[in-house]
Amino acid sequence: MKPNVVVTRILPQRAMDMVTAECDTDMNEKDVRYSKKKLMDCVKGKAGMICLLTDEIDTEVVEACQGMKVIANVAVGYNNVAVNAASEKGILVTNTPGVLTETTADLAWSLIMTTARRLVEGDKYLRAGKWKEWGLNLLLGGDVYGKTLGIVGFGRIGKAIARRARGFDMMVLYNDDNRADATVEKDLGASYADMDLLLRESDFVTLHVPLTENTHHLISEQELSMMKPDSYLINTSRGPVVDEAALVAALKDGNIAGAGLDVFEREPQVEKGLLKLDNVVLLPHLGSASVATRTKMATMAVENLLAALKGERPPNVVNPEVMDR
Ligand code: GLV
Repeated sequence: MKPNVVVTRILPQRAMDMVTAECDTDMNEKDVRYSKKKLMDCVKGKAGMICLLTDEIDTEVVEACQGMKVIANVAVGYNNVAVNAASEKGILVTNTPGVLTETTADLAWSLIMTTARRLVEGDKYLRAGKWKEWGLNLLLGGDVYGKTLGIVGFGRIGKAIARRARGFDMMVLYNDDNRADATVEKDLGASYADMDLLLRESDFVTLHVPLTENTHHLISEQELSMMKPDSYLINTSRGPVVDEAALVAALKDGNIAGAGLDVFEREPQVEKGLLKLDNVVLLPHLGSASVATRTKMATMAVENLLAALKGERPPNVVNPEVMDR
């Protein structure tokens, strides 16, 4: 008999074919986010679940996953899953690291360029028929080449950001709980800096940390006040890493020059103050959104799910202690 699994949203076809070949699949055909109640109903009696970062798998949902073997999240971040509760129930939680590194780094870099060079404002200006002639003072922005880049979180994505900065001849500072090896620092041309120094010196501060209790509101009023008035904040990590109300105030008051945001505190809601500002570029969480990468993420989640269902160690388990018990 095939195991029963729930898939909370439609996946790319290749991934769907892989699940349905081996599992009886309860798939959310409507592809509209399940309510918590619906989610709690769907998980009952299932051996596994494939979910997205938009599914809040909190302690109550985990409680309803009685007998489940695996929760396979289609994302590298897994702050949407109550991992400790899952571990207590002996449920493996898996994620999709590695495959989205370069795509997400590309997006963060797009935000650096777009924000500094005011591309969205330029596009709107032109479409509105306002462009009458080349203007010496038209839509002037900040330079990227030769500036200082501050990378907060020096994991896979942070390092991929640093690698790209070499082509722009930037001075690269980074901060992370774990200092990188000297050879890595040398290869990437990156220097470790404490947070205060990084915030004070950087022309661009880009965030690449996971969301945890320690990183919630990591960038708040005090941190923003340390940044230079002509600097930019880029966030492609998780929304709650930045205190959005404090960011709105800093952007309005000119404490910083601009921001590029792909993630928000209460997605898909966006702080109203941000929507009114021209010096911020807002994207609907597109970090890993290339066809190839999203397909890889989904197939990787399926591989994790299938391995766990067979009693094997999934390639990307975030709570391996469950297996070691
Ligand atoms: C996307 O935000 C992810 O965590 O994969």
